[in-house]
Amino acid sequence: GGKEKTYVIGISQCMTDDDWRQAMIREVGIEASNYDNLKVIIKDADSNNDRQIEQIRELIRQKVDVLVISPLESAPLTAVAEEAYRAGIPTIITDRKVNTSQYTTFVGANNYELGVTAGKYAARYLPPNATILEIWGAKGSSPAQERHNGFRDALSERKDLTFVPVEGEWKQEIAAGHLRETTFDGPVDFVFAHNDVMAIAAREYFLSTDSAQGKRLPVIGMDAVAEAGLQAIADGRIDASFLYPTGGEQVVRTAMRLINGETVDPFIPLHSGIVDKEAARSLLLQTERLLNYQQRIETQRTRMDELLNRFLFLRSSVWVITLL
Ligand code: FRU
Repeated sequence: GGKEKTYVIGISQCMTDDDWRQAMIREVGIEASNYDNLKVIIKDADSNNDRQIEQIRELIRQKVDVLVISPLESAPLTAVAEEAYRAGIPTIITDRKVNTSQYTTFVGANNYELGVTAGKYAARYLPPNATILEIWGAKGSSPAQERHNGFRDALSERKDLTFVPVEGEWKQEIAAGHLRETTFDGPVDFVFAHNDVMAIAAREYFLSTDSAQGKRLPVIGMDAVAEAGLQAIADGRIDASFLYPTGGEQVVRTAMRLINGETVDPFIPLHSGIVDKEAARSLLLQTERLLNYQQRIETQRTRMDELLNRFLFLRSSVWVITLL
């Protein structure tokens, strides 16, 4: 019936100009289309902490039924996340963390464990006295710190290793720029990038400096979600990656459970796994299917709108005729 209340999920995204977050939005949209009377508002902070704080305050003022935050950096977003929670709005933190336990639940993969898995993988390819290049995501964001800590802990017994950090801030072009500015004292034996797009930047950089060495160099990334990354894994430019699910579907489902008054666990884990060439090929096919679904949902929605417009038009002409 048309009289039911419309529920609103407000999502505060730290940015949306990358394929991983586009995939998340797609997942949110597909899951949300399963429910009647549900509206999703997504705000894009465009990689700006202050803007994200402001946008979260707007969503609080709007009294959304559930607030979802994927914070740019942990420290600057902590206070406003607490504000929302204390205002009585069920608050889901996702992907990146804030430095408080005042939220309803955290939906995300375990980034520390991802780092450990990457470190164990690396250990198999490291010659004695190896130099490892680590390309960092944004330093103030929790996945970068946790991936780093896990990776280093997994390799802590290897006292022979040298680590070279380069900042990439999660972005391919930024990583590429900093790689060009870095002077390497000797050859690099292994590259661990905190995400796939930065792994691609590393491969391209080393191919451009010494194509033979650039081809041999093992490079690993993380995410294995967006098409560019999956394609790079499928054709061997990235040797392996680790799935970092976007959680778009779980976030909407969890929000619906909160709207229905259920209690949910304070941590809703998303599962990960290594993605090699073969896995990347099947994931690419799946991504294609998902895109197809979304396309179909959109087509249906337009058809519905058209039908509705026609219906309204017919009704109003009938109405006019009746009046005459
Ligand atoms: C996308 C992204 C992913 C990464 C995640 C970490 O914006 O940089 O590549 O896994 O954010 O929060």
